[in-house]
Amino acid sequence: MALTGLFLCLFLVGHLAGNLQLIFITGEEGQQAFNEYAQFMTTFPLVKILSYLTYASVLFHVVDGIVLTMQNRKARPVGYVKENGAANAKWASRNMGILGTIILVFLVSHMQSFWYTMHFGDIPMHNGLKDLHTVVLQFFSPENSLGLVAVVGYVLAQMAVAFHLSHGVQSGFQSLGVRHAKYTPIIELSGMGFALLVPTLFAIIPIFLYITQL
Ligand code: HEM
Repeated sequence: MALTGLFLCLFLVGHLAGNLQLIFITGEEGQQAFNEYAQFMTTFPLVKILSYLTYASVLFHVVDGIVLTMQNRKARPVGYVKENGAANAKWASRNMGILGTIILVFLVSHMQSFWYTMHFGDIPMHNGLKDLHTVVLQFFSPENSLGLVAVVGYVLAQMAVAFHLSHGVQSGFQSLGVRHAKYTPIIELSGMGFALLVPTLFAIIPIFLYITQL
């Protein structure tokens, strides 16, 4: 869980950097840059290997997460008469399974919207490249009847990602045995910062795309 989770954090940073182009490079130039980026990401051999590693990590992380959640339940089939989980464990750490399930639902829908369209869908062309830029902009457009629903859905999904990471990052280091009186508080603080910053920046993208197309 720890290794795949921390690897997926690295994926998130790369994915975020790529997607932030949608904000920082606009107009015709942005369309060309994003489509070239998408073409590179789907065809360059080394990136393809990283992609397969990402899919495998998601799969392993999900399956192992389900197994662990079931083992936890089985270990305590009868609930405590009096339970005050909040006394020594934060809400996110007690609800990683639920948060993970919300993220999984988001991922399936997200992959269908963009990844499937890019790889197998009927996609418009622009300057000889698949026009994923237009697909993304239309998805979060006020002219699309479900555009606002998509924006709200993406923002809510990022909240689940934020809570999941708020426990997941530091827990990943702990599981790998990285625990030290001096460094653990720094890891916990950095984990919280990561959990706040990355999903917030992800959430800003659909909001920005919607507002700038009003
Ligand atoms: C506003 C936020 C986001 C936008 C605009 C966005 C956009 C995209 C696009 C356009 C693709 C297709 C790229 C391609 O197949 O080459 C993609 C793929 C993907 N996205 Fe996102 N994404 C966002 C957030 C997320 C988040 C939060 C996660 C994970 C929790 C995620 C996970 C993935 C995965 C696993 C793929 C497949 C990557 C691959 O084929 O290597 N995305 N995303």
